[in-house]
Amino acid sequence: MSRPTSSFPLNAWYAAAYDVELKHSLLARTICKQKLVMYRRSDGQVAALEDACWHRMMPLSLGRLEGDELVCGYHGLVYNSQGRCTHMPSQETLNPSACVRSYPVVEKHRFVWVWPGDPALADPALVPDMHWNDDPAWAGDGKMIRVACDYRLVVDNLMDLTHETFVHGSSIGNRAVAEAPFVATHGDRSATVTRWMENIDAPPFWAAQIRHAHGYEGKVDRWQIIRFEGPCTVNIDVGVAAAGSGAVPSEGQPGDRSRGVNGYVLNTITPETETSCVYFWAFARNYCTGEQRLTHELREGVAGIFREDELVLEAQQRAMDERPGQEFHNLNIDAGAMWARRLIDQLIAKEQPAATTIPIRAAAAAEAGR
Ligand code: FES
Ligand SMILES: [Fe+2]
Repeated sequence: MSRPTSSFPLNAWYAAAYDVELKHSLLARTICKQKLVMYRRSDGQVAALEDACWHRMMPLSLGRLEGDELVCGYHGLVYNSQGRCTHMPSQETLNPSACVRSYPVVEKHRFVWVWPGDPALADPALVPDMHWNDDPAWAGDGKMIRVACDYRLVVDNLMDLTHETFVHGSSIGNRAVAEAPFVATHGDRSATVTRWMENIDAPPFWAAQIRHAHGYEGKVDRWQIIRFEGPCTVNIDVGVAAAGSGAVPSEGQPGDRSRGVNGYVLNTITPETETSCVYFWAFARNYCTGEQRLTHELREGVAGIFREDELVLEAQQRAMDERPGQEFHNLNIDAGAMWARRLIDQLIAKEQPAATTIPIRAAAAAEAGR
């Protein structure tokens, strides 16, 4: 199979913004190399339009809103929220082709999702499940950061948490993570890496959480169940429970986590270009859900942990840019990331025009005739 020429599929829902980012004002964002301008209409619906005026391509994000319509900041063409021009200066007749592209939008699980590909394929049922973000049984919050790297490097980073030992040693990493075995499985559009670390010392972050929630100090059973959903969402079920309290699943039975603390690290990473992305993450927990102070502390704590990743990812991208054509080498720990990349490649390949096949004999004749 030839290597895909693009690094991202277009027929997918990509998180464009956190719900709170969209107000009755213009927000510019780049998704899969497409420039968009977005705003929230007065009825609460989000409009997402191409960020270039039909007339002279002035970025519409530099214009202004008039009611629910967007006025270009150059010569005043007015567009409605579907991207159709409704007013032209100094002329009565509107050119019927005067419109800008409008993108399908769905608001779900606290994110505004945009579909940059074929609108006819934009099925809302394909929005990745990130329900922990607004499920009342869970509490948490997150942030958006811009990272100067290929979004797939972030996916690689999340699919292999061995790096915690080396990058996040002061918070969530300890030797147990790098030493514990793991199981990698995959489906058509998802890949999962499961790692259980039994009867270990909790790393500082988790020792503090289980002490706070249950007053427990001592050895723990720790889990990390990482689930990738193509092309760019990774939800990680994480936590610790008192060692031997039954949290570890056995013989197909789910474990009993009642003497533990459980969190979900929710991540979805939207490519802007081949070498930059916007990374949305949140940390949700199902313990002490009424403690707003804990929500704030955890969000800031996780933000600090992710800053450590950001430094690594951007340094890695710079090193790659300096070595075009050089390939990665894979270890056992990369099994999950390799599956994720394979699934991404499949999604991209589906969108590429079928390669023209040259009959073998004709190709051989052409070769001989050279
Ligand atoms: S460029 Fe927008 S109205 Fe002229
Ligand atoms: Fe990390």
